[in-house]
Amino acid sequence: MTDEQYVDGLYGEDADLARTKKGIAEKGMPDISISDGYGRLLTMLVQLAGAKNVLEIGALGGYSGICLARGLGEGGQLTSLELKSEYADVALAHMKEAGFGEAVEYVIGDAKESLAQLKEEGRRFDFFFIDADKDGYPVYLDYAIQLANPGAVIVGDNVLLRGRTINPEKGGPAVLSVRAFNERIASDERLTSTVLPGYDGLAIAIVK
Ligand code: DHB
Ligand code: MG
Repeated sequence: MTDEQYVDGLYGEDADLARTKKGIAEKGMPDISISDGYGRLLTMLVQLAGAKNVLEIGALGGYSGICLARGLGEGGQLTSLELKSEYADVALAHMKEAGFGEAVEYVIGDAKESLAQLKEEGRRFDFFFIDADKDGYPVYLDYAIQLANPGAVIVGDNVLLRGRTINPEKGGPAVLSVRAFNERIASDERLTSTVLPGYDGLAIAIVK
């Protein structure tokens, strides 16, 4: 048993999240939702930050959307960018079943274009969750910093790429992009940050 499996075993089944995982599998979508432990952390971080406007980059089937929405107070809003309209439909159905249908808006299309549009509109966010294509992580981080209210939190999933990040024999575009993302998370003077190495790695930063 891994440390992560031990920790996950401390928690009982979560009906909304279990239904969401089942729905994702039944639709033939990939089993790559955020880990249970980091999902719990997302809820806590959104709540601790007092975030009113949360931006998610990569919705998949709504698992992380539920975790993020759980941390929102009354009137809080989640904006979720998703490339595939079929995935956004599944995510919205799961969000509705969990009671968060009113708290979420999906923006369909290439996230880089959606981010440029949000910037154009002058939109600002208190919390960012980056979990889309790994090649895009450096650009998503750039946009998050530009769209951030002071004190905003930026979280990035999968920064260890199941071992590829630290494997010197790996050097594809996703690996190079995630390494660059991690190095910038750690060294950018506009950020206070840490990287958690459990599960598949999670980067957490606060925009000063
Ligand atoms: C994988 C996991 C993820 O959480 C993700 O966002 C993308 C890929 C994976 O394990 O392949
Ligand atoms: Mg992920």
